[in-house]
Amino acid sequence: MKIETLKEHCQNKITVIDAALSQYVLADSYPPIIYEAMRYSLFAGGKRLRPIMLMAAADAVGSNGNEYLPVACGLEMIHTYSLIHDDLPAMDNDDYRRGKLTNHKVYGDGIAVLAGDGLLTAAFSTMLSQTKVEPQILLNVINEIAVAAGPAGMVGGQAVDLVSEGKIIDAKTLQYIHQAKTGALFKAALRSGALLAGGTKVQVDALTKYASQFGLAFQITDDILDVIGTQEKIGKPVGSDIKNHKVTYITLHTLEGAKQLAQEAVDQALASLDCFGSEADILRELVEHLINREA
Ligand code: IPE
Ligand code: IPE
Ligand code: MG
Ligand code: MG
Ligand code: MG
Repeated sequence: MKIETLKEHCQNKITVIDAALSQYVLADSYPPIIYEAMRYSLFAGGKRLRPIMLMAAADAVGSNGNEYLPVACGLEMIHTYSLIHDDLPAMDNDDYRRGKLTNHKVYGDGIAVLAGDGLLTAAFSTMLSQTKVEPQILLNVINEIAVAAGPAGMVGGQAVDLVSEGKIIDAKTLQYIHQAKTGALFKAALRSGALLAGGTKVQVDALTKYASQFGLAFQITDDILDVIGTQEKIGKPVGSDIKNHKVTYITLHTLEGAKQLAQEAVDQALASLDCFGSEADILRELVEHLINREA
């Protein structure tokens, strides 16, 4: 598949995801301040990778990913909340996100905290509105997402990332941070798509391996773009990690070393898809494109 086709695929999915998100977080709800702040970040122009991957995993096991929009959008709401909080002065203290001023720069710290809280909690009621799935399967999936987003996943990774600022950490700790703060949600996305769509154990295990390597390569690339990217393209400030004295894959392994480790993770992600045919081509394209991404 050509990169243009992948772009088209993502653009089509973004249209569907955005329309659904707009229904789940309605503009004219009361109190307007919180809905406005939530929608400000939600519709600031994210790549929608996590819902796209959930849907691609469902497609890969022979279902139609568009059937699972409530869970897919719930994941995007959780991800957006994590970005709002990540940008706060008490965390990375960044002024731009998705090409726009960060939530707290527009609404103030208090409303930004609450907009994050609102998105996190609304994500769960949205996911529970999923139909066409056995209740027990849906509960298991939502539980996996809760664990992935919480202290055993993203929140845990963010916590270790935060307390490690300015400290020397080893490669193992850095790998934990990346797998937890970023990998966990990708893993939840891929597994959820496969589980909701009734994938076999072999398929779910393969997609779990793919997701771990994808998540790692994705965050290594994020570290690389923090150094060699442009704010215009990544939509957020370059040099955030240096400003915050973070140990990253670049500080620990050099730029070339980081690129090589990302490539190794990409290769492993690709290898884990060997049990799939062309139905997993979008997942192959997504991970191949990752290494050359500019945003
Ligand atoms: C940014 O994620 C935060 C990380 C986990 C590195 P994305 O690069 O997917 O951000 P959006 O959703 O497209 O803004
Ligand atoms: C944060 O990692 C990942 C999250 C869970 C939000 P970063 O702090 O590197 O993400 P960016 O670079 O601000 O998007
Ligand atoms: Mg951060
Ligand atoms: Mg950050
Ligand atoms: Mg970053």
